[in-house]
Amino acid sequence: KLSSTKELLFNAEKGGYAVGAFNVYNLEGVQAVVTAAEEEKSPAILQIHPSALKQGGITLVACCISAAERASVPITVHFDHGDSNQELLEVLELGFDSVMVDGSHLSFKENISYTKHISILAHSKDMLVEAELGRLSGVEDDLTVEDYEARLTDVNQAQEFIDATGIDALAVCIGNVHGKYSANGPNLRLDLLEHLHDLCSKKGVYLVLHGASGLPREFIKECIERGVRKFNVNTEVRKAYMDSLSSPKKDLIHVMASAKEAMKRVIAEKMRLFGSAGKI
Ligand code: G3H
Ligand code: 13P
Ligand code: ZN
Ligand code: NA
Repeated sequence: KLSSTKELLFNAEKGGYAVGAFNVYNLEGVQAVVTAAEEEKSPAILQIHPSALKQGGITLVACCISAAERASVPITVHFDHGDSNQELLEVLELGFDSVMVDGSHLSFKENISYTKHISILAHSKDMLVEAELGRLSGVEDDLTVEDYEARLTDVNQAQEFIDATGIDALAVCIGNVHGKYSANGPNLRLDLLEHLHDLCSKKGVYLVLHGASGLPREFIKECIERGVRKFNVNTEVRKAYMDSLSSPKKDLIHVMASAKEAMKRVIAEKMRLFGSAGKI
């Protein structure tokens, strides 16, 4: 059934687990998430990135909402990485239940005013608002220690940011990256995550971790213990889709069915790892 991201994260907080937010691009992706959620008896978030919206348009949003309504488990529809004011103003009218306001490319002050502006509008529609502080990028192997540190979420700034913007969820940068992690493995600052968690639990703000693809089990567990309630997963699901195309197929139906199955397997495994499986 169509649910609200607020409710999913509230339940995750109460139950000490995290909900997966899976980026979807087409019907097979939507079906893979919903089927995995139903089989695992898990809540799930269908998440649309601006690049996916550009391809699929409002039809993709409608597909997500319709699939969520028909599902036997709670599903919500979230807009990911809204980094353009104009686009977000349009997106707020499309029926999403929650949005990520991504002002991480802006200066701290500009990020505050951008996020606050959109928060007020989104809250008037009872949507949950997620925002990012710090800078998350793809892996850059030649990053100096100073550059690495400069991108992390600062706890004092986080406090000011939360107070000024009234957001509901904070996407943190603790060394997590979109896409693959470096050959040496992730360098996550769990000590920083603990400090951010202390702050966020005082403020009633949920912690979100982007870039969950490629994070080993132990790290996921450590993050959940330190309050992460939403993990964003994209790359691993996309890879499962692409890999499924490499074995010879008889026809289009076969291509679609095996892509769906491949994505579903990855998604279901994440649901078990995040602890959301069996919670419905
Ligand atoms: O009501 C919200 C929770 O206090 C969120 O805090 O950072 O522990 O998930 P959290
Ligand atoms: P990954 O591609 O690393 O899973 O990151 C997903 C993400 O953060 C989407 O917003
Ligand atoms: Zn992301
Ligand atoms: Na990643």
